[in-house]
Amino acid sequence: MLELSDIAINNASDIEQKIYTKCSLIAISHGLEDMVAEFKLKSEIFVTFQKFRFFLAEIERYKILDNLCKKMYIFARNINKDMVKGFKNTVFIEINENDPLVDEWDIIINHPEHPAVFLSKEVIYSEPVKEDQFRKFKGFLSFSQDILAETLKVMKSKLIEYGINYDLVNTQFKKSGQDIESRKMSFFLNRTLSEIEDKSAQLVAQNTLLENTLIENVELSNEIIKRLCYSAEYKDEDSALHMIRVSLYSSILYGMVETCEEKRRLMNYAALMHDIGKIGIADSILLKPGKLTMEEFDIMKTHTINGARILSNSKRGVIKMGYEIALNHHEKWDGSGYPSGISGKNIPLTARVVAIVDVFDALSTKRVYKSAFPIETCIEILKEQRNKHFDGEILDLFLNSIDEILRYRDMINLRFNEPINEDIFTSFFNNSMNFITEE
Ligand code: C2E
Ligand code: SIN
Ligand code: SIN
Ligand code: FE
Repeated sequence: MLELSDIAINNASDIEQKIYTKCSLIAISHGLEDMVAEFKLKSEIFVTFQKFRFFLAEIERYKILDNLCKKMYIFARNINKDMVKGFKNTVFIEINENDPLVDEWDIIINHPEHPAVFLSKEVIYSEPVKEDQFRKFKGFLSFSQDILAETLKVMKSKLIEYGINYDLVNTQFKKSGQDIESRKMSFFLNRTLSEIEDKSAQLVAQNTLLENTLIENVELSNEIIKRLCYSAEYKDEDSALHMIRVSLYSSILYGMVETCEEKRRLMNYAALMHDIGKIGIADSILLKPGKLTMEEFDIMKTHTINGARILSNSKRGVIKMGYEIALNHHEKWDGSGYPSGISGKNIPLTARVVAIVDVFDALSTKRVYKSAFPIETCIEILKEQRNKHFDGEILDLFLNSIDEILRYRDMINLRFNEPINEDIFTSFFNNSMNFITEE
């Protein structure tokens, strides 16, 4: 079987094969097609498509070419006959899976004054190219009548393979020297394309570098948040799972009340830090198995201000949100909370969300000072606090989604039922997207 793109090697030693990216090939193909359409060149056109859908993407252009060409030959796999019914001058050739043509991108214009041959074959790398537009093809572009003549010979045998009879009319340039002119033109175009490709490759490389730096920055801040939370966990080993559950529930609930995608994304990490200020609370209070005295509770209340201090004055969105939550998550809707006693919508939305899930988690799990309550009791306590402790509208959303919340709770319990180790945060964050999307 013949490979069109090998013609360059076999028959035209003076033709330099080049690497083209897919975006250049689209430009070249469009350029050639437009030339035929613009100058109404009564030509024979041969085009190969790796996939029929690539042809469909261009079908409107090809309808125009079909109208004004002498004859057109379209090679593709899995041709849908119904979709090409309107074509009058076009032969559609369904290529076999094992035909080398399936890797090629070829476009040939057979016209006595304006010949054009573009032949190329995809370069297959062991690692697939990430950006579709930068898939690479090796081949050449030529406006030479001689090259066209060689190409048509191969094309004829290709058509015979598929049982199509093709009359090869040997067209020649009328004026002498025209082939030289055409070769100069191909040379010029190829040079120009090379430069554009080099430049765009540089831009892509720069872009990738910037992207990586950006990703690194996000990863760095997330990592620091995680490490900050590890340090809190040293004081209170129950707190890791509490932080994670509050983070997850908060993300779910916040997703129902906040439309800004960016803010929703931040909640995951910001909520994790809601109790970070407990780091500054003496163990004798934090870990006291029984009820706190008034004085002890007053000290305990400072965990909101401590947390705010740790997270204050940041320019980072996630830390700013963490600050807002740490400071305000014990404020109450009716103004009876701490540390400031603000009420209603003066309490940031983030903190109103976290307040609900924080209490729900404290009620539904064991603490050093209390045992876990049954879910029904937790729900009763929450309901009782509607528009007292909690924003009633958000509480309703939470209670309506309680089944979903409980499913996530079970998932976390299942995944982390082994003794807690340092990897719990890493493991959670590597999987947190799965947590959210898992059914
Ligand atoms: P936490 O254990 O994470 O509890 C968070 C919030 O859940 C509490 O905020 C409270 O609003 C709610 N909550 C927890 N347990 C119960 C309960 O049994 N009944 C009801 N109705 N609500 C409950 P709060 O009260 O401002 O406490 C903040 C933090 O202070 C608690 O965080 C905990 O670390 C500590 N704390 C509170 N009370 C005690 C206590 O009696 N003994 C000890 N050792 N620590 C306490
Ligand atoms: C083609 O048009 O033949 C190929 C397009 C592609 O593979 O992306
Ligand atoms: C809302 O989304 O609930 C309104 C804004 C606010 O409550 O602060
Ligand atoms: Fe707290």
